Amino acid sequence: MTTWSSIVLLLVCGLLAAEAAEPWWQTASFYQIYPRSFKDSDGDGVGDLNGVTEKLEYLKEIGITATWLSPFLRSPMADFGYDISDFKEVDPLFGTMQDFENMVARAKQLNVKIILDFVPNHSSDECDWFIRSAAGEAKYKDYYIWHPGFVENGVRRPPTNWVSVFRGSAWEWHEGRQEYYLHQFHKKQPDFNFRNPVVREEMNDVLRFWLAKGVDGFRVDAIYHAFEVEADENGNYPDEPRNDWTNDPDEYGYTHKIYTVDQPETPHLVYEWREILEQFQQDNGGEERILMVETWSPIEIVMHYYGNETAEGAQIPFNFQLISNLHYDSDAYHYEYLINNWLSLMPSGKSANWVIGNHDKNRVGSRFGADRIDLFNILLLTLPGCSITYQGEELGMLDAYISWADTVDPQACNGHEENYMAMSRDPARSPMQWTDGKFSGFTSGDATWLPVAQDYAQRNVQKERGVALSHLNVFKRLQQLRQEPAVQEGDAEVKAVSSYVLAVKRYLSGEYVYISLFNVFGYIENVNLNEVFSGLPSTFQYALVTGKSIKQLGDRVAASSVTLMPYESIVLRSTTTI
Ligand code: GLC
Ligand code: MG
Repeated sequence: MTTWSSIVLLLVCGLLAAEAAEPWWQTASFYQIYPRSFKDSDGDGVGDLNGVTEKLEYLKEIGITATWLSPFLRSPMADFGYDISDFKEVDPLFGTMQDFENMVARAKQLNVKIILDFVPNHSSDECDWFIRSAAGEAKYKDYYIWHPGFVENGVRRPPTNWVSVFRGSAWEWHEGRQEYYLHQFHKKQPDFNFRNPVVREEMNDVLRFWLAKGVDGFRVDAIYHAFEVEADENGNYPDEPRNDWTNDPDEYGYTHKIYTVDQPETPHLVYEWREILEQFQQDNGGEERILMVETWSPIEIVMHYYGNETAEGAQIPFNFQLISNLHYDSDAYHYEYLINNWLSLMPSGKSANWVIGNHDKNRVGSRFGADRIDLFNILLLTLPGCSITYQGEELGMLDAYISWADTVDPQACNGHEENYMAMSRDPARSPMQWTDGKFSGFTSGDATWLPVAQDYAQRNVQKERGVALSHLNVFKRLQQLRQEPAVQEGDAEVKAVSSYVLAVKRYLSGEYVYISLFNVFGYIENVNLNEVFSGLPSTFQYALVTGKSIKQLGDRVAASSVTLMPYESIVLRSTTTI
């Protein structure tokens, strides 16, 4: 071989090897921790970082690759940490920087990756930057969006009709500066001005700071709010058109959001952040750092966050399709459509992610019924790509009942008692249920910041460990199955067998075929898998059963006739390889 051809060969081999090594996040199982409610180590009734550290082994036990943590940075807690007053400090309620470092060190020992919640859209009004901006200090003057508003008949009114997500005008008058500032969320969460390059650099610096502290990536909060439409030549902003379904100017739905969310500039911010992550990796080595972004946008827009022809974006733009579009009565065709739609719209070379709950949504078992808890865990963990599980969903935790008097979520408190339950995010934020002891083992103190759910004595880690087909043990079994080559890296076909039954086939040459089956409704169903999948092996075995099953693990079944009990979900494995 000539020198040149051996060099070319070496290069090709190198490229192939680089391609073969799958990035760690691609088929990872993510777990969201809401630190206030995970584990309290110091008895003050609020969870903290030492509590998380103490429970990292639990994450290992349930097969978690990485955890993203809701914010624990310094905050007056108007939105429970999503109102940050110092982007580089830990709030004393959650612990110290040393506690954070200990958590990261322990996580590294256990090989659990740590993802930080990065909240770029706004700071707290108690943030030094905002205080200086309000005081008109030259460097900070344009860190936020300010406008004097208009005076009509001697009465001052806000610059536009824009409404805050948490109700009421998105503009708040500031006595000191004698101007309004924009806040798309709470009035204690002023929006940054991302058209100011200094602000962008400031936030880039926040990313570098935490990367240097050893985090493996960021969950980016509320990204679709980052930009608003640019002001006109007079510095004014346009009103948004009205929606006709409400006459209440305080209701978020009062206007049609064409100027306050999903502006074309926004994905480019994410591309810029991805470059910072890449640069950090180049300079410091280690595994790929990732971005997971939160955007409640139309699916075509969400896809832009993956990147474009010239730039890489987020590895994981949260796939909220199942949260936003599935409902209690959705049939199997609807599930099929939503899953395949994401897979087919995804740009080539990207990978999928699946989310069904978080700290802003009611519990899965409360939205879809407790009968479907295993169904969603099995679906998330057997679809291709990565899964994202909110704390407690592995136990099938349900919404806690929180009375109006106990309600603390600003999204509910800013509204009315009549319909606070429809607005409140508190029910999904109740303390994690560890044991059947006092306060579900969450705290040793004598109060908790939110009440513990009433059913904790039946639904908790300790108890579910000991029940063979508990939600927890089904979840753990799923994590084992996820290690199988066909489930890890195989192809996927997602098909509704009928309105009632959804089927997911995972297959890889030389391996066993896996099929997960989901009986979405409460009837006994019999299905012939050959009707939807071609070339199937004729015999399967039960690889995962749940509390709804009458079959046992290992039982054999013909592909042509599988019977499912009401709401039963199972995983089958072929008895021969393909
Ligand atoms: C995101 C968070 C939510 C928070 C909001 C404002 O949507 O998930 O909890 O209230 O952003 O930061
Ligand atoms: Mg505490």
